[in-house]
Amino acid sequence: MTAPLISPSILSADFARLGEEVRAIDEAGADWIHIDVMDGHYVPNITIGPAVVKALRPHTDKPFDVHLMIQPVDPYLEAFAEAGADIITVHPEAGPHIHRTLQAIKGLGKQAGVVLNPGTPAKMLDYLIEEVDLVLVMSVNPGFGGQSFIHSQLRKIEAIRKMIDKTGKDIRLEVDGGVDPKTAPLCIDAGADVLVAGSATFRGGPEKYASNIAALKGRK
Ligand code: DX5
Ligand code: ZN
Repeated sequence: MTAPLISPSILSADFARLGEEVRAIDEAGADWIHIDVMDGHYVPNITIGPAVVKALRPHTDKPFDVHLMIQPVDPYLEAFAEAGADIITVHPEAGPHIHRTLQAIKGLGKQAGVVLNPGTPAKMLDYLIEEVDLVLVMSVNPGFGGQSFIHSQLRKIEAIRKMIDKTGKDIRLEVDGGVDPKTAPLCIDAGADVLVAGSATFRGGPEKYASNIAALKGRK
């Protein structure tokens, strides 16, 4: 099993000390920083916007993996790019034109990713896969941290791994939701190479971040 990259979701961090929390997970071995942006419209929760992303940027050099759960999404791409996002992922359902949105992200000089909800089939990628740097499979319904992993998504990860390999391109396959030391190996075996983890990274407080991340990488 190759060690996956770990992208801790700061949704489970202490929001009153976000800068410190980002520095702590950086030092604890996070590879990327996953930032969940929610609007209370596309998903039933509201989190953070570009101003917070910008404020966090000086706290780490690790890539910012910005997961946009907002509708509309196009009018905000530039603001997140300018705030310091490195990877921007978008949901096809947040529309209206996912292909155009992906091109817009690349036009801003950022890596573009498409996110598939649990009910969205892998087939959605048929005419998009060549356009993306990353595919993100949601293993929970978007909106909240701390939900249980939906096992049917493992089949989807396997199917997408095959699609990616067929392109011969260097496209990352990331999984988000309910990832912990038990479900992480299942995701890796199915073909994922980046794991998002909110609760499983932040549980136990800062002294635990390094061992939590190591456990997700399978090194405990
Ligand atoms: C859900 C978010 C996830 C979430 C993961 O909409 O996209 O990134 O924070 O949290 P855990 O790892 O706790 O399931
Ligand atoms: Zn996310």
